Amino acid sequence: MSKCGYQGDKTQVALQDTKQGRNDLFAGIPCRLRAKLVFMAGQNIILGVSGGIAAYKTPELVRRLRDRGAAVQVVMTRSANEFVTETTLQAVSGMPVRTNLWDPQAEAAMGHIELARWADLVLIAPATAEIMARMAAGAAPDLLTTLCLATEAPVVIAPAMNHVMWSHPAVQENRQKLADHGVRILGPEIGDQACGETGPGRMMEPDDIVAAVMAPIVVANVEPPPLAGKTVLITAGPTREALDPVRFISNRSSGKMGYALASAARQAGAEVILVSGPVSVTVPDGVKCINVESAQQMFAATHEHIEGVDIFIAAAAVADYRPANSAEQKIKKTASEMSVELVRAPDILASVAKINNGPFAVGFAAETENLRDYARTKLDKKNLDMIIANLVGENLGFDADENAVEVYWRDGEQSFPMTTKSALAEDLIRLIFERYLEKLTAATQTALPAIAIRD
Ligand code: PMT
Repeated sequence: MSKCGYQGDKTQVALQDTKQGRNDLFAGIPCRLRAKLVFMAGQNIILGVSGGIAAYKTPELVRRLRDRGAAVQVVMTRSANEFVTETTLQAVSGMPVRTNLWDPQAEAAMGHIELARWADLVLIAPATAEIMARMAAGAAPDLLTTLCLATEAPVVIAPAMNHVMWSHPAVQENRQKLADHGVRILGPEIGDQACGETGPGRMMEPDDIVAAVMAPIVVANVEPPPLAGKTVLITAGPTREALDPVRFISNRSSGKMGYALASAARQAGAEVILVSGPVSVTVPDGVKCINVESAQQMFAATHEHIEGVDIFIAAAAVADYRPANSAEQKIKKTASEMSVELVRAPDILASVAKINNGPFAVGFAAETENLRDYARTKLDKKNLDMIIANLVGENLGFDADENAVEVYWRDGEQSFPMTTKSALAEDLIRLIFERYLEKLTAATQTALPAIAIRD
């Protein structure tokens, strides 16, 4: 069993080898790419076919790869045409077969560089002594070898040739060179050969090649992400309080902080609902976003979705005051002065923190001075579980890509120095989750009946 910490989703993935030689296949491949191999179903495979008698097995290979959910694009060398037809491979792959680096029509559809980027895996089967020599030399006289140089995907080859050729020092040198370059080499197998001789040189059977690159892998010891099963509701961005149909009062919030938190919470496995004011940030994958404009709309949308929410994070810069009246028509420029009557906007955070058995409530405090005092006052006044305080001002907090915060809760605090909002969001989600668990544990212990122990 080999273990690989896949950094992409930070889960521990244990790969259980079901076939002998599987460890060898992965040896030297970075974890990032191993994980790609593990989850190969639905991936893009370039199948390179070079000119050996074993090419007659490639239609079967294509079929088997497609059965396992892969999209297969066949690329043939000129001599491969002597052993298997383009028409057959086109029919079984369901894609036009590529043969020529200089085919203007094919290049117009998907250029060779795009093709190299498209691939999650380049598999060459059969790989002749000739193609191995070209690859080992870093030569790129044809489409297939050009792709091998231009791709970042793992390259796997299944050599096939006469056993004497296979044993030749030049071929063995090339095999070693390719292995040193990170190319995985499957086989060849020992057995009867087309030439009537017996020895090492037979291409691995299609089923075995497929099993080697797409083996049914048991994924074990995968820890569920920490926030799995939890729902997090986050407010983000500014609100707009209308003065008339074309004018409004707002602030400089870009939504970056709130969206970064939404993304981090989603990464940590939570169901995430984002109630967002008008921003131009992209909604993170898997996050449900409800767009609103005014504080009143943000208040309504939040309360509409608050039931069942475990953690509420108020990152939005919500208006404290809104115009008492919003003119139905555009206000005309008549008087030399004008004043606008403002009334309090609903306090969304305070209202959520008041809910009986409500969510763990996290507020933000945007301050230009006295960060600690003002933030702690807000923590107490709004009866919050935690407050994240940031100094704001010119190029600070609002609309910046980076942020630094002080986090306060009733009996503790922690500083987070200036970093990107996405890195900060990951740290904050981790801390919020820790504090949330602590509160949950404390509540459970309080709820337990006292047990009198007698002698
Ligand atoms: O959006 P960015 O450009 O990335 O900038 C991020 C940010 C600076 C806006 C963010 O980090 C932040 O500080 N958000 C809170 C801004 C704010 O309105 O702070 P406040 O101190 O005025 O409000 C205190 C808390 O009450 C906040 O959690 C706020 O969301 C909430 N509130 C305030 C007023 C109101 N009517 N309803 C609320 O829920």
